[in-house]
Amino acid sequence: MNKIQKICVVGLGYIGLPTAALLANRGYEVHGVDVVESTVNTINAGKIHIVEPELDTFVKSAVNSGNLKASLKPDFADVFIIAVPTPFHDDYVPNIDYVVSATKAIASFIKPENIVILESTSPVGTTELLETTLKNENIDTSKIYIAHCPERVLPGKIMKELVENDRIVGGLTTKATEKTVEFYETFVSGAVLSTDARTAEMAKLTENSFRDTNIAFANELSMLCDKFDINVWELISLANRHPRVNILQPGAGVGGHCIAVDPWFIVHAGGETAKMIRTAREVNNYKTEWVIEKIKNAALKFENENGKKVKVACMGLAFKPDIDDLRESPALYIARRLKADGLEILAVEPNIESHKEFEIVDYKEAIEKADIVTFLVAHKEFKTIKVKSDLDFCGIYK
Ligand SMILES: NC(=O)c1ccc[n+]([C@@H]2O[C@H](COP(=O)([O-])OP(=O)(O)OC[C@H]3O[C@@H](n4cnc5c(N)ncnc54)[C@H](O)[C@@H]3O)[C@@H](O)[C@H]2O)c1
Repeated sequence: MNKIQKICVVGLGYIGLPTAALLANRGYEVHGVDVVESTVNTINAGKIHIVEPELDTFVKSAVNSGNLKASLKPDFADVFIIAVPTPFHDDYVPNIDYVVSATKAIASFIKPENIVILESTSPVGTTELLETTLKNENIDTSKIYIAHCPERVLPGKIMKELVENDRIVGGLTTKATEKTVEFYETFVSGAVLSTDARTAEMAKLTENSFRDTNIAFANELSMLCDKFDINVWELISLANRHPRVNILQPGAGVGGHCIAVDPWFIVHAGGETAKMIRTAREVNNYKTEWVIEKIKNAALKFENENGKKVKVACMGLAFKPDIDDLRESPALYIARRLKADGLEILAVEPNIESHKEFEIVDYKEAIEKADIVTFLVAHKEFKTIKVKSDLDFCGIYK
């Protein structure tokens, strides 16, 4: 195989930029592409526009060495990596428009023997659609290698996990799989596993659906335990002492841009067959509604007993502990709904300084001022607070 020298990474967000910076630090010439001009300018100045430990050091040295350049336009390369968003539309229908437009953008730079890799989390069949898109742009796809290699890094540990995690590579042909595996093996220390494109696509969706289903089980248990007057945290920790049981933790719902999103890709395509995966999504969404009802009932009780308007402290807005990420966050949704229902909210989120809809209140001040304290996210700061609350939905007191 011709030696790979130049890589074009399309989409310079949480996945694309760390990948581009890592590859540049490994000696590849990397041409990064993004449609946002300020992102391109920030990176070319050796700086970063997203929060991720160690990424600043990687980008700075990659840019200083001359190995990483960002641009609004793609360029010729040996390998193309697409890492653009794959969200869903309002009705949970997958939106792969970004993948299609990124594919069209690279088409005129593709030469025979190139490798084109889709890293975005994608509905089954998207890699085939990428090939069709290239064919429609008059590319002879029999002369190039197309593969899917889903990313499974954990935000906060991306630079480490990009290298150490096992990877799944699924090519549209056996040769494409082989070529792509060879490429990943130049910078991944984990195992690089071979399969076909559809299995690779489904594997990523399966991983997140598995976690979603397991959390749905925990959330259902939490609602049952409330009915039976049992502490769910104790229950799960006892059940998990069985050597073959591993139940995840319940919470105020499920959020973030992966676990709360990706199972819908399966449900959308699977229809009636995707019963359990759909039900898990519904249970996790229902848990959020259940939490809202619990808080509203407590608020009503307080107002009836005290004859004054209640102040409710919402402890945490992020989608999981100790991060500032509010995407698809059930806690934020709960605070919004309570506010829309006319409750006075003291919104607490130690990981952000401001929010356009809420005045962010210091957690100690909120505890002092609130009539009702409700724990929505188990941030580390909250674990030091000594306050009685029956509205602990994230196991602060477990
Ligand atoms: N962030 C994660 O932890 C994570 C983990 C695993 C998988 N993923 C998946 O990786 C993919 C990318 O996610 P992300 O978190 O990096 O998203 P992101 O929003 O942080 O970054 C995507 C970038 O792509 C750019 N972009 C959009 N359209 C473009 C185009 N046509 N050409 C060039 N650039 C374009 C955007 O401006 C943005 O900078 C998604 O499919 C996501 O589901 C993300």
